[in-house]
Amino acid sequence: AIKQDLTGQHWVITAGPTMEAIDPVRYISNHSSGKMGYALATAAQARGASVTLISGPVQCAAPHGVNLVSVKSADEMLAACESNMTQQADVFIGAAAVADFKMKTATDQKMKKQSDSDEIQLTLVKNPDIIATLTQKKRAKYMVGFAAETQKVVEYAKGKLVKKGLDIIIANDVSRTDIGFNQDQNQVTVITKDNTWSPSKAAKKELATQLVSFIYEYTASTPSTN
Ligand code: PMT
Repeated sequence: AIKQDLTGQHWVITAGPTMEAIDPVRYISNHSSGKMGYALATAAQARGASVTLISGPVQCAAPHGVNLVSVKSADEMLAACESNMTQQADVFIGAAAVADFKMKTATDQKMKKQSDSDEIQLTLVKNPDIIATLTQKKRAKYMVGFAAETQKVVEYAKGKLVKKGLDIIIANDVSRTDIGFNQDQNQVTVITKDNTWSPSKAAKKELATQLVSFIYEYTASTPSTN
């Protein structure tokens, strides 16, 4: 039997891409199948945590015993996080691939092709940073982020750890086609202020179990700064 040592804890996990409407038929999005986030939700639930999984549009099946909240855009994802974290959560894990930009104004009607031009200009504005907002409002005792990088993976991830005020960042090299987006396997580097840990490449389900253990042990041995 799996140890139920997360009983009484509330973990909030984001997964999948966000989808930002351009018009009623088109959107901007990111690669992400949701597999990593869903595996984390399953692993935390199996250890006894009460889990809220806030997910962008994906094909994954809803994990048993998890409170699944489906959203589309980054604005909706942030609102769902906030409304599910009015009581401070124990752990937040941002595994979602949030679109950094959205349309300045999404149009109500389908945009028509301009017959006189081969170009089109879209004006994009920054989406809210979900992790930074939740950290600033101290919505969880411990904040864990993911970093999807294509180069200088550990260096860039360390920068995000500090800039976003995270306790732990889990870095993926998304330039590799055998791991990361959409794959069943992943290989990550787990970075805290003081340590770096590189578990071997494994199925996302197996890796998620190891990551949940690591996060739990970190929370049990490190005072919360939130
Ligand atoms: O879904 P899979 O196919 O299983 O693939 C898993 C994954 C590769 C998508 C996942 O492991 C992963 O790396 N997720 C984070 C992707 C990402 O958006 O990384 P980033 O480096 O751009 O963002 C850093 C962190 O900030 C992330 O935790 C992200 O959720 C968060 N973020 C980003 C933008 C934003 N506006 N708000 C945020 O909170």
